[in-house]
Amino acid sequence: MKKFIIKTVINNRKYELSVSPNQTLLDLLREELGLTGTKRGCEVGECGACTVLINGEAVNSCLVLAPQIDGKEVLTVEGLAEDGELHPLQKSFMKHDAVHCGYCTPGMIMSAKQLVEENPQPTEEEIRTAISGNLCRCTGYVQIVDAISEVQK
Ligand code: FES
Ligand code: FES
Repeated sequence: MKKFIIKTVINNRKYELSVSPNQTLLDLLREELGLTGTKRGCEVGECGACTVLINGEAVNSCLVLAPQIDGKEVLTVEGLAEDGELHPLQKSFMKHDAVHCGYCTPGMIMSAKQLVEENPQPTEEEIRTAISGNLCRCTGYVQIVDAISEVQK
């Protein structure tokens, strides 16, 4: 199968990669780049476990083909910490016990990241809307909403 050469920036690092036309971004991240923080759930755009940011917008990486990130910037949960310091959202999730099994957490945090960048003081309803594409089977969402809410204050 014909391969594409793409140039992209992932977690502030430049890459030139050879990718297949039918390879998903999720596969590229996990299988080739070893960025396994992004989780594989349903693979049909339903669960949000695979959420990453592309040019600041939260997307399901299982629905994005690798060639589509050519010329774009991707941020995964591995790219949130700076100088060994966790992102405020990560700290807040820990503080509020918003991580139980943890499978939804990376995707949940990436959706929250887009929200807090665009809307510094979201209401509870806006938080719940922002994470509505991220399913959590463990927490009941209350701690997650509290964690995101506190980052705004
Ligand atoms: S694995 Fe992508 S939305 Fe579920
Ligand atoms: S913490 Fe287990 S799915 Fe959310």
